[in-house]
Amino acid sequence: MNNSPITARAHTNIALIKYWGKKDVDLIIPQNSSLSLTLDHFYTDTTVKFDETLTQDIFTLNGEPAENPKVGHFMDLIRKLAGIQTFARIDSINHVPSAAGLASSASAFAALAAAASKAAGLDLSRKDLSRLARRGSGSASRSVYGGFVEWRQGKDDQTSYAVPVEEHLDWPIGMLVGIVNSGQKKISSRAGMQTVVETSPYYQGWIQSTTADLESIKKAIQNRDFQKVGEITESNALKMHALNLSAHPHFNYFEPMSLAIMQEVERIREEEHIPCYYTLDAGPNVKILCMQADAPAIQRILASKFDQVTFELAKPGEGVRFIEA
Ligand code: PMV
Repeated sequence: MNNSPITARAHTNIALIKYWGKKDVDLIIPQNSSLSLTLDHFYTDTTVKFDETLTQDIFTLNGEPAENPKVGHFMDLIRKLAGIQTFARIDSINHVPSAAGLASSASAFAALAAAASKAAGLDLSRKDLSRLARRGSGSASRSVYGGFVEWRQGKDDQTSYAVPVEEHLDWPIGMLVGIVNSGQKKISSRAGMQTVVETSPYYQGWIQSTTADLESIKKAIQNRDFQKVGEITESNALKMHALNLSAHPHFNYFEPMSLAIMQEVERIREEEHIPCYYTLDAGPNVKILCMQADAPAIQRILASKFDQVTFELAKPGEGVRFIEA
């Protein structure tokens, strides 16, 4: 065990091919493999210090005391792995609007996995770090790496982890992130995906088509075929949201503003001939995949129509790393 505090920084990632359903709820083994882009803009810094004098873990988020049973559960996992019983102080600063479908859990659990494992004296490979981060939140497995990342579903705890597809991208793509609503989600990703697995009559179709989407997008990335990458991204997101509409009870993450932005992105593409494609996760925020050079023009058009939404340009970001607190 390490008595000095350890700080790790992890960036969030946005899935172009979505993870939406678990095979094993406890171990977080997904129903399908997924692929994401790690972003430079949104990240979490987490500091962990084990302290023999503590009688429980102490967790703060953005400087405020916070309660999160998932954090305690995750720390128990670390203690078990390291063979220790000591509690820790965990301080997280989230540079992401929490629980707004901006995958804050991805950066949060990747940073916590890195900081807590090192502080507990474990020296994990990136593969094992990805496996560990997965236990906190599935999407966190991918934030261990930068650039394009694939989470290979595997079949058990040993074989389900992320691998880099292209870590340092020499491709000037970006994502415009529109914060429609930074409040709490209507239904957590955990609950939403479980309802879908159990009740959507389209679930098998999703598995089949998403497996094909993953193969096609990897080829399109390799060929630097932006149009293809965008088309697959948009279509895969819509299929995921169609599952939610087909579940029982049905639910969705759209707000009127999300739908209006989605339509406008399609119009910009068709009428202004600027290639751009949207994706949405477990929340109303719309993320728009584009070339970095086109971002200012898209931002100008969107700002003229949606003055209450800010669209921030995020570029490909790096994987998890240790920093000085
Ligand atoms: O890992 P979770 O529980 O935050 O679920 C992530 C689900 C999506 O963001 C909708 C899709 C994905 O692959 O990130």
